[in-house]
Amino acid sequence: MSILVTGGAGYIGSHTCVKLIENGYDIVVVDDLSNSHIKAIERVKELAGKDFPFYEFDVCDGNKLDELFTKHDIGCVIHFAGFKAVGESVEKPLEYYSNNLKTTMTLCRVMKRHNVNKFIFSSSATVYKPGSQMPVSEDAELGCTNPYGWSKLICERILTDIAYADDTWSVVLLRYFNPIGAHESGKIGEDPAGIPNNLVPYITQTALGRLEKLSVFGNDYDTHDGTGVRDYIHVQDLAQGHVDAIRYADENKGAIAINLGTGIGYSVLDIVNAFEKVNGVKVPYVIAPRREGDVATVYANANKAKELLGWEAKKNLEDMCRDSWRWQKQNPKGYAGE
Ligand code: UD1
Repeated sequence: MSILVTGGAGYIGSHTCVKLIENGYDIVVVDDLSNSHIKAIERVKELAGKDFPFYEFDVCDGNKLDELFTKHDIGCVIHFAGFKAVGESVEKPLEYYSNNLKTTMTLCRVMKRHNVNKFIFSSSATVYKPGSQMPVSEDAELGCTNPYGWSKLICERILTDIAYADDTWSVVLLRYFNPIGAHESGKIGEDPAGIPNNLVPYITQTALGRLEKLSVFGNDYDTHDGTGVRDYIHVQDLAQGHVDAIRYADENKGAIAINLGTGIGYSVLDIVNAFEKVNGVKVPYVIAPRREGDVATVYANANKAKELLGWEAKKNLEDMCRDSWRWQKQNPKGYAGE
């Protein structure tokens, strides 16, 4: 039996593919490469030392998915494929809802047809209602501020209802906090298109000199240094969480939501300072106004992952800063190169 990984050429998907192979799983990957690069797949194969089937198509294409499920014996699906830029989702809500809901529902329909009933879903801490008590646990109130977040929350709902209606289904909704870092080899990592929106890619490109300076969005939050606090998690720890989630889905039915975070909050300036210190580089920055939609503090209660999956983040902030920088230095222009 193979694990189907959708969006396997993406940032979290590519790291998870390597981890899955290292843990003895056979994988089949589908990605339309609309926001990722074929090189990521080549490097995953190189790192894992193993070949696997790769298909380039959009997961909304039910006929192609159907063929894939006919050809391969799929036991479980890990669904990463989707649109993920918060700002863009506000400008293009229809595209975000159509794509993120359609991929998930098409997958479920095809899975049902082929009697596949284990689904690991790539969700986000963004589903928690702003203003929630921190550390935030899975039973906190849900609610979003942008179409990207709502698309994740609606998919969570759809999957939960499917698992309720059909008691053979196992659904694990993994709510990621802020993934950063890269594979220790520096061969795969985060490769955002255009100017990065997220903090760490912005920092690495600034350290490299590709961007002039970082804007720190607000220093008047109610946090230890006034800048926003988040729960940054190493992408390799996150990848391991998916391996553990498969094991859980093999042994349990129904739908469950699980946070994947470290439970530790670091501020923007904590990250900048650690990055400079660990890597011996400068990250020029200015204090800028708050970014719309940001909150002061978000970090996870990660107890459920430990209890149910036996999972815990192992990497620390230094590892995350070092690995993010190694990837950026070795791939100054990302996968596309010059
Ligand atoms: C964002 C998304 C979240 C998504 C996640 C993916 C929002 C409101 N949330 O989380 O839904 O799942 O990315 O990783 O967009 N910062 C700066 N300067 C920058 C960039 C960021 O100061 O140039 C600060 C932000 O204000 C924040 C922290 O760095 O305090 C982290 O920002 P970011 O990496 O964008 O992640 P989130 O906003 O937490």
